[in-house]
Amino acid sequence: MRFTIVKSIKAQQKLSRQLIRSGKSIAVVPTMGFLHDGHLSLIKKGLSKADIVITTIFVNPTQFAPGEDLTRYPRDEKGDLEKIKQAGSQIVFIPRLTDMYPDDYETYVDVENLTLTLEGESRLQHFKGVTTIVAKLFNIVQPDFALFGMKDYQQAAVITKMIKDLNWPTKIIVCPTVREKDGLAMSSRNSYLTPVQRKQATALYQSLILARQMVKSDERRPSEIRKSMRRLIKNAAPDSDIGYIAFTDLKTLEAKKEITKNTIASVAVNIGPVRLIDNMRIF
Ligand code: PAJ
Repeated sequence: MRFTIVKSIKAQQKLSRQLIRSGKSIAVVPTMGFLHDGHLSLIKKGLSKADIVITTIFVNPTQFAPGEDLTRYPRDEKGDLEKIKQAGSQIVFIPRLTDMYPDDYETYVDVENLTLTLEGESRLQHFKGVTTIVAKLFNIVQPDFALFGMKDYQQAAVITKMIKDLNWPTKIIVCPTVREKDGLAMSSRNSYLTPVQRKQATALYQSLILARQMVKSDERRPSEIRKSMRRLIKNAAPDSDIGYIAFTDLKTLEAKKEITKNTIASVAVNIGPVRLIDNMRIF
């Protein structure tokens, strides 16, 4: 099908209905734009699963915590459209802010428990905004598949729970984190980093590799691994502010008292004003 850009909610609903009626399967890749190879890997995976991949671009105000500057979020619609087309996604849905959230908007979707830890602890209301916008996008796009990145592992877990609890027929597919050559997880927010901060930012990845090595050498105590990770991060980026270093279960997100199978190590670190997150399976 011809590359199509859709901006109206009604037009997207109509297009999705037509596609479904003609027997096409649909995958959706929700994004906030300023696309990099991580986003594009989701599109490619989507194309291997469904006939049509719909990429959405919407900088969602309800998931920004107070103090996080929504207007500063990087944008490049022209560049994004070119990348999406190149990657093979046939439809881009770019809804307007006032259509998604009119003045009288008042309905939210909230996953209660999985959102209390990690990112949810430091970014109040963040996940309520994420689940609400994803629910709205699913209702508009009607996807068979939806692709999310492991980079935001808690987000993927929260959305998977929402799907299960609300009996949504959409299948969630979680894709591996795409990294820069030096290991830094790709993120639209990396564009805020100065060259010095950019170098320091690799500490997140290096600390996760260290954790994995320690587990391989039979260390099972979260406290010891956390201490070593903290030291590594502080050495590499002395001015950094560590939000958390956590060891949680892959599915339940529960904190591990001892490192056992299915443990994910997650880190959140402020390098200058930029909050970076990363995670890795360490066992
Ligand atoms: P955004 O940060 O634009 O990310 C869109 C999708 O790309 C998410 O599923 C995210 O996990 C994935 N992604 C980001 N960096 C990645 C990387 N380095 N490798 C692989 N995948 C990566 O996440 C959001 O937008 C929003 O919260 C959204 C789900 C669109 C709701 O507004």
